[in-house]
Amino acid sequence: MSSEIFDKVQRVLTALQEQNIERAQDLEAFRVKYVGSKNEIKALFGEIKNVANERKKEFGQLLNDVKQAAEEKYNHWKEKLEGESGGEDDIAIDLTAPTAAIPLGSRHPVSIILNRIIHIFERIGFTVAEEREIEDDWHNFTAMNTPEDHPARDMQDTFYLKDSTNELLRTHTSSVQARIMKNQKPPIRIIAPGRVYRNETISSRSHCQFHQVEGLYIDKDVSFADLKQTLLYFAREMYGPKTDIRLRPSFFPFTEPSAEMDVYWGLNNEDDYRITKGTGWLEILGCGMVDPNVLENCGIDPDVYSGFAFGMGIERQAMLQHKITDIRQLFQNDTRFLKQFSGVI
Ligand code: DAH
Repeated sequence: MSSEIFDKVQRVLTALQEQNIERAQDLEAFRVKYVGSKNEIKALFGEIKNVANERKKEFGQLLNDVKQAAEEKYNHWKEKLEGESGGEDDIAIDLTAPTAAIPLGSRHPVSIILNRIIHIFERIGFTVAEEREIEDDWHNFTAMNTPEDHPARDMQDTFYLKDSTNELLRTHTSSVQARIMKNQKPPIRIIAPGRVYRNETISSRSHCQFHQVEGLYIDKDVSFADLKQTLLYFAREMYGPKTDIRLRPSFFPFTEPSAEMDVYWGLNNEDDYRITKGTGWLEILGCGMVDPNVLENCGIDPDVYSGFAFGMGIERQAMLQHKITDIRQLFQNDTRFLKQFSGVI
């Protein structure tokens, strides 16, 4: 009987020595079998009662040796596998492997142009003024020297709010001029970016919503030369350091004199002929000296102060710079279109 038990212990020893350990799962199986709280070796200790007295000591020794062999093997492999995986997990981490690509979002082309324009004017002391898109008739038209029967109102087909003849979606950012002049004392030097609305048929060239940037500078002794120099600086920052501009006389109710500014785009290819109608010049903005009536409407004394203003559309500039041919693409939020601007700041 005794020797059979000895043989059994011997077999357990051989088995645990031969047990193959390669992965964490193997190690865990080994632990459960030979080291864990209900391991096989422990059970063998219970057999000591069946061993002849004179061999009990020998048996105990043998079992202790087996137990120690199991623990040593377990600890050896545990250390080894943990060293390889760097942690308790069975996941080996390859620190040299490339990380999964993080897709970059993109700015909207309108935002790209707006931000560029804002930064250009911020550098020469203009601050950003933002105002409401739902305006009243006074700020959008009357204050801007466009009284009710003024023909210029027809130039801008207006969305009125339901059942209202007073509340409307602003047709231009010039309404911000009135809000700022009423609330701030000169010197005033602001640009006002934002969305505007007109009741126009949507096509590839026009939309019922678009963006403008308004500029306003009011101080003592502001002259047309200041306006021209400011716009030249803008054009050269925006369209390149050698860009030429021209100012053509025009009409706006809120400025006197008024002008439109063109930049020389060039006639280098067929597209240039098309977009400049064969002239090489592109109209970018409207501008002028703030009409004394406007100053007065907004509580600024025209005998003391003068100023200039300008307003420009953003979509057209975005379309020119990014060769976009259909304005509707700017409002559809099709990610296939927008993705193309990834990385453009
Ligand atoms: N508000 C004009 C428009 O929407 C643009 C404009 C022209 C703004 C001349 C101005 C200006 O400030 O001086 O067409």
